[in-house]
Parts: sequence; structure tokens; C-alpha cells
Amino acid sequence: MALLVTGVAGFIGSNFVYHYLNEHKERKIIGLDSLTYAGNIANLSKLKGEQKSRFHFVKGDINDQEMLKKIFHDYEVDGIINFAAESHVDRSIHDPQIFLKTNILGTQNLLHVFKENYNETKGHRFLQVSTDEVYGALGPTGLFSETTPLDPHSPYSASKTSADLIVKAYHDTYGLNTIITRCSNNYGPYQFPEKLIPLMIHNAINHKQLPVYGDGKQIRDWLYVTDHCRAIDMVYEKGKSGEVYNIGGHNERENIFIVQSIIKLLNEKTKDPAINEDLIKHVKDRLGHDRRYGIDPTKIKMEIGWEPSIMFEDGIKMTIDWYLENRKWTQSVISGDYLEFYEKNYIF
Ligand code: NAD
Ligand code: TYD
Repeated sequence: MALLVTGVAGFIGSNFVYHYLNEHKERKIIGLDSLTYAGNIANLSKLKGEQKSRFHFVKGDINDQEMLKKIFHDYEVDGIINFAAESHVDRSIHDPQIFLKTNILGTQNLLHVFKENYNETKGHRFLQVSTDEVYGALGPTGLFSETTPLDPHSPYSASKTSADLIVKAYHDTYGLNTIITRCSNNYGPYQFPEKLIPLMIHNAINHKQLPVYGDGKQIRDWLYVTDHCRAIDMVYEKGKSGEVYNIGGHNERENIFIVQSIIKLLNEKTKDPAINEDLIKHVKDRLGHDRRYGIDPTKIKMEIGWEPSIMFEDGIKMTIDWYLENRKWTQSVISGDYLEFYEKNYIF
């Protein structure tokens, strides 16, 4: 029996593979990924000999129904965890269509094949990895709970919300065993250097400008990626079918604080005087920019027993160390596609 994990060559998916194979010594993973610009098979190169024998990679698109049917035919798949997605808000603003195709239709396609092969008594389960962005934006107070109304703003968050509703429909209509998790912003190793934290680390190391959107006082609630992976693992094991679980790290920070912290820590670490706050450049704001996200993780704590274990002050140091030690990784994942997008839009 094996777990089908999609998006395994991306940031959170690859971290999840390491976590899961380490925690469940008897389990196998079929790892599916179409290797978009954000997917890098090298992210999985640290799998050790014994783990490699329990991991099988398939290059493929979650929209490819025949390929999915073949996976179900060839392997005894007893569950799916769906990480595969187009995940970057700025890209969704520039070109929304692929977000709808992958995030909505791709999820429905996975659910369809899951349903065709569904066996309740064997404990089959579908876990959809969603985001707190489905709830929209918060004002200065309050937190997102699982009952906060859905109110997405960006094409990315609208596509993830649609996917959540399709998952709910498959549960409500066909009685499938499904769960949705919604987490806040992740950070840590293997994150593609287009998201805030790895982009700022990469640019600062290379003395490039640090583009802060608008006043930089937008707030995100940061969660270290391994804490997120542990939460998904626990929810998959213990969560109730049809339920939603928010996952958050109690780590709300303004973007400008994140950028200043990265500069300070990098400067201390490298003793490079060129890494300083003169690199910060306030640029035009993102369209429809959500002002604040903040998660109330009470439900997952009370029902599942999960709590975050890594403080932001430690997580950010580990992340900076990883990017300093893995500059070759960053160079290898920065493709022409990345450069074209960023030089056109954000590198001034
Ligand atoms: P990522 O962009 O790093 O990785 C996505 C992976 O999916 C890539 O490896 C890509 O090749 C693959 N993929 C894309 N389209 C595909 C397709 N059609 N078929 C098969 N594979 C495809 O994203 P991430 O940051 O690892 O996010 C993983 C999941 O977590 C996503 O669903 C995202 O919406 C969600 N999420 C992420 C964050 C975050 O902070 N990164 C926060 C909340 C939720
Ligand atoms: P991002 O990492 O893209 O995640 P999300 O939009 O899903 O929260 O952005 C995090 C925050 O950082 C968001 O408020 C936008 C801001 N940001 C910048 O100010 N500059 C940048 O270059 C990037 C990529 C993001």
C-alpha cells in the first residue's frame, strides 16, 4: 500500500516526503510532479538508500487522467495528499489561467480518479493542502478560524477556494473521506526564490535590491515548513472526514520586519558590509494586496494535539544558514523563466 503525494518536487511537498518516510518506516510514497518552474527533482536528492526504496517518482500532470488511472492500477494507493499547485500570488495576477487549470481542474481530476478507486473500509482518504488566503484579509484585529467566511481576493486564492469547494462537494455528494488543511505562510529549505523570505535572502547575498511592496506593513503569520509537514501528517492520521483544520505558527510579523531581520542576520553571519538596509527599495504595491493574515490554530491543538515547535527566531536562522550553504541549489533553480518574470516586474 502506498500514499500518493502530489507536488513532491516543490517546497512543502519535498519537505513532506523527507518527514513522512522518516516517521513511517513501513510506508511507501508514490511522488507525482509535473516539474514546472517551481518543481525540482534535486529537492529529493537527500533521500537515503532505505528511504529511496520506499519512494517512487512519477513525472506527470494531475490533469492527466490516464496517467492517474495507471498509478492506481500499478500501485495499491490508499490515500492522496495534494500539494500540487501553482502557488505564487504575483504570477496569478499576471497570468491567472494556469492557476484555474492546475488548482481547480487538477484537484477535481484527482478526486475523480480517487472516487473511481475508493474503498471506505480500507481507510482511503484524500487530504487537500489549502491556504489561509481563502479567508481573504484581516483588519488589525481578529484571527482566521475554520468558520471564517471564504472571501478570496487574488486569482491564486480564488482558485484554491474553488478547489476547497470541489473537495467539499465530493465529500458531501459521494461520501468520500476528505480533509482540508489551511495553513499560513511557510518558510524553510527548498522554497523557490520568488517568495518573500528566499527572494530577500538571495537578493541580499548578491547585493541586489530588496523590493518591498508598498509600505511593507502587511502582516503574514509565518510557519516553519517542518512544523507544517508534521501537522499534515497528524491530520491525515487523526483528522475527521469532512473537516477543515487551520495550521498556524503564532508568528505574525510585518514584511518590513522580516526583511530587516534577514539583513541583520545575514550581515552578522557573513560580515559583508554591503548587506545593509540601503538595499531595501519600496516598490509599487501588489494589486489587491491582502493586508493581514493570522491563524487561530485552536482546533488542531485541541482535536489533533498539534502545536508548532519552531520559534520564528530559530526558524529564520536555520533558513538563512540553509540558503547560504545551498547557493548552488538557488542558482540551479533560477531558470530563464524566473529571470524573465522578475527582471520585467520586480528587479529595478
Ligand atoms: P511550490 O510552488 O513550491 O510547489 C508546487 C509543486 O507542484 C511544484 O513541484 C510543481 O512542479 C508541482 N505542480 C504544479 N502544477 C502541477 C501539475 N499540474 N501537476 C503536477 N504537479 C504540479 O508550492 P509550495 O509552496 O510547496 O505549496 C504546496 C501547496 O501548499 C500548494 O497547494 C499551496 O497552495 C499550499 N500552500 C503553500 C503555502 C506556502 O507558504 N508555500 C502556504 C499555504 C498553502
Ligand atoms: P509571498 O511570499 O509572495 O506570499 P503570499 O503573497 O502568498 O503571502 O509574499 C509574502 C508577503 O511579502 C506579501 O505581503 C507580499 C510581500 N512581498 C514583498 O513585499 N516583496 C516581494 O518581493 C515579495 C515576493 C513579496
